[in-house]
Amino acid sequence: MRPVILPGLLTILFTCLLVPNALAIDVNPDDITSLRDAAKTVASNMMQFYNDRDSKDIPGKLDGTWWEGGSMFMTLIQYWYLTGDDQFNDAIQEGMYWQKGENDFFPSNYSQYLGNDDQVFWGLAAITAAELNFPERDNEPSWVSLAEGVFNSQIPRWDMTSCGGGLRWQIWPYQNGFKLKNAISNGGLFQLSARLALYTKNATYAEWAEKIWDWSATTPLLRKTWVIADTTNVDANCKDHGDFQWTYNYATYICGAGYMHNYTNGEETKWLEGMSGLIKTSDQFFPDSASNQVISDITCEPIKKCDRNQKTFKSYFTSWLGFMSLIVPTNTTADMMARFKTSAVAAGQQCSGGRDGKHCGIRWTKRTEWDGTSGLEQEMSVLGVLNAVMVPFKARAPFNTHNGGNSQSRPHGESDTEDTPGPITTGDKVGAGILTAMFVIFWAGAVSWMVKDK
Ligand SMILES: *[C@@H]1O[C@H](CO)[C@@H](O)[C@H](O)[C@H]1NC(C)=O
Ligand SMILES: *[C@@H]1O[C@H](CO)[C@@H](O)[C@H](O)[C@H]1NC(C)=O
Ligand SMILES: *[C@@H]1O[C@H](CO)[C@@H](O)[C@H](O)[C@H]1NC(C)=O
Ligand SMILES: *[C@@H]1O[C@H](CO)[C@@H](O)[C@H](O)[C@H]1NC(C)=O
Repeated sequence: MRPVILPGLLTILFTCLLVPNALAIDVNPDDITSLRDAAKTVASNMMQFYNDRDSKDIPGKLDGTWWEGGSMFMTLIQYWYLTGDDQFNDAIQEGMYWQKGENDFFPSNYSQYLGNDDQVFWGLAAITAAELNFPERDNEPSWVSLAEGVFNSQIPRWDMTSCGGGLRWQIWPYQNGFKLKNAISNGGLFQLSARLALYTKNATYAEWAEKIWDWSATTPLLRKTWVIADTTNVDANCKDHGDFQWTYNYATYICGAGYMHNYTNGEETKWLEGMSGLIKTSDQFFPDSASNQVISDITCEPIKKCDRNQKTFKSYFTSWLGFMSLIVPTNTTADMMARFKTSAVAAGQQCSGGRDGKHCGIRWTKRTEWDGTSGLEQEMSVLGVLNAVMVPFKARAPFNTHNGGNSQSRPHGESDTEDTPGPITTGDKVGAGILTAMFVIFWAGAVSWMVKDK
């Protein structure tokens, strides 16, 4: 039997827990100073997590995850651009260059277990850096060339052996998910291609963007009803569908379509139609519980089951659409931008945890009732929505080669600017040889294991 005193005690306990809510982070979405102050607090707390990681000797590598490093830098580059606060720029450059691999963000330390989606997020960080004229370092590849490196390493993986095309989620047969083609991998490369097209004006990127969109539309990954499936299986010839709904899947396709709309000068109605259709079906991410104004990853938040990846998704949805709003007709995103304002206020209210009473939870729909969680991912999400709301104050369309973008397109690496190809050291060759041999052995092992398994 429960002692009668418990409810009383619980009330006192809850009241104590609620006290820090007085702190939180105040956000006035119509005041750029308020937004910048809030963003600075959130970015600083995010970088505190980054600086406290175990693997801090490896720039850009977070504990237990590689891909989130790329998306964290992407969010920080946006932050620098919108606030002018450059205190994290060295860390961004250092991490981005350290993880560049062979100028394709596929570093050999991790490439044995990376998926296409992991890699593409770093490519999206690089094209963001180019579009915002984020400073480059001498003797390092340009931001655009790094984004192009990701594109050129993914295109050969376009898989005609099943479903008439598409990228698989995983790259290696021994990985779970090799049999799946998923929305974030295909949508990610679609968006990267569209942004490369607008930046470089090189039609190859636009052709691929259109091809990926059109292929996706032959599968449940991009339905005519504008509902996006998360995954589809090659064994079912990409007719089946895993239908978990995630904000970031929608955001990849919405933004790619927005960039294509602008690239094609609005001459092809399909892009605006697709973009608007997908924005409409994204209404589902604004639940009744917060008057349909506060964004939520509805598949995991209400049941409190968001993993660390999922905790970052809202950052992409909000900040990508925020930047895209500058290159599409104003009325197509106005309603969404208004909802981002309400979401930013709610997100600030969620930031009442931790020792400083400013650490953010993930369930913004709960507003002042802190959800009891904190972490780098939570900070990244809040920074994303603050970035989105700051975009209209800057109101400058992304840079490209025709309007002052400094980053140079070099799809074939640095040799593009030299008469003779850059030297390849013997060390490089030996390293690559060993790796290739390892992959072949791995691959053969995995395949024979799979065959045996059947
Ligand atoms: C690869 O691992 C080594 C050994 O831990 C480390 O020194 C190096 O910085 C890592 N490289 C990258 C790109 O993470
Ligand atoms: C593309 O973006 C530019 C920059 O914001 C804008 O001036 C132009 O109107 C956009 N084009 C279309 C077709 O929306
Ligand atoms: C935006 O405005 C255009 C031109 O006035 C109109 O045709 C279109 O339907 C509007 N779109 C939305 C989503 O309101
Ligand atoms: C266009 O991009 C593709 C893919 O990166 C590249 O192979 C091609 O050389 C580029 N064309 C020009 C003119 O730069």
